[in-house]
Amino acid sequence: MSSSSSCAKPEFRAGQIVSGFEVVKKLGSGGFGAVYHVKKNGMEMALKTEFIDEEEDETLKNEVHMLRLMQWSPAFCRLYTAKRLTWNSQPVNIMVMTLCNRPLSRLRRMMPDRHFTKSTAARLSVQLLEALRDLHISGIIHRDVKGSNCGWHAPTRRILLFDLGFSRKYLELNPENSKMRHRVARKDPGFMGTSKYCSVYAHDELDQGRRDDLWAWLYSTVEFFLGTLPWTNEEKSILVSNMKKRVGKKLFFKCPREIALMYEHIRQLKFDSSPDYQMMLDLYKQMYSRLDIDESDPFDFEEGSEFYEQHFRHKTDSEIEMESELATSDELASTNFSKEIVTMGSKSETSEEENKLGRLAAGFNRAINRLISF
Ligand SMILES: Nc1ncnc2c1ncn2[C@@H]1O[C@H](COP(=O)(O)OP(=O)(O)O)[C@@H](O)[C@H]1O
Ligand SMILES: [Mg+2]
Repeated sequence: MSSSSSCAKPEFRAGQIVSGFEVVKKLGSGGFGAVYHVKKNGMEMALKTEFIDEEEDETLKNEVHMLRLMQWSPAFCRLYTAKRLTWNSQPVNIMVMTLCNRPLSRLRRMMPDRHFTKSTAARLSVQLLEALRDLHISGIIHRDVKGSNCGWHAPTRRILLFDLGFSRKYLELNPENSKMRHRVARKDPGFMGTSKYCSVYAHDELDQGRRDDLWAWLYSTVEFFLGTLPWTNEEKSILVSNMKKRVGKKLFFKCPREIALMYEHIRQLKFDSSPDYQMMLDLYKQMYSRLDIDESDPFDFEEGSEFYEQHFRHKTDSEIEMESELATSDELASTNFSKEIVTMGSKSETSEEENKLGRLAAGFNRAINRLISF
């Protein structure tokens, strides 16, 4: 994997049939392919593509593998099908999944001053935290957490975390006792992520763990609340990193005070620490009652909110598409990946390990269902 713009992308046009799915329109494109709105038998879905290049790793194959493991969690897309086909004499990977409405990055940009209200920002942040908790408990880290990788799914009123192409397992099976253990940090893993949201450790090209997803979650959360980050207009990754290292608590001055407490927790996490998701969710509960946030209120972009009529209802498709282009160039410009071997099918990922992860996830799922009643 080199820089995002260097990869050929399969192009489908509206009306074309791809493996039985009719293309409605393009929804977005990123580093290694494009995502299309498709339909089949009256069902609307999202289809993600990627050209296969012998020289490159197959990120979509990795994404499908990880998304399969996440089918137990409501915070991820349903995976309908995944296959390899030939398109214009080229091999192409496709996957078909739940169709989301719009990414959070775009919904945020549609708001006045580009930020959500406290109530919406807090509830979206909680949903993203729950998605990360589910992913982490399944033994996986995301490594590119940000608003443009979360879609709003109106029927369930949830955000779904997508783009698992760069996610990685951080647990492995210890052959000595058949228990799962944290992988040892690699010496020179290279950079992976988006400069605007990644942790300072990722800037320093250290191996990533659960804490790095939480740093990206924290920066995304601040952006939900405030509409900007101090380094929003800074293009040089090294300067962004320096600003992150210097800013400290000041970053949270205009956010609800509980966010600063979550920062205190996240900043002391080590590479292989387990984050205390429940403590952070409890802090959000405190914030809800302190700020009178009613969980049943409409989100800013839902019918019934004070912004819906003016900012969301009458947006035409072309206006939205223009914003989508803006969002894409703004957020993907800073994404850069250095070569990394995606360890699909490697020795460490035996079916025994897979089963273990599956059991872990299922057990946790049951525990969560008992625990989370808010
Ligand atoms: N399931 C989906 N439903 C609706 N839109 C999606 C879906 N998945 C991706 N998209 C759109 O396509 C864009 C690129 O998809 P993503 O999976 O993030 O790929 P990339 O690796 O290219 O960043 C997203 O930012 C979003 O706008
Ligand atoms: Mg993406």
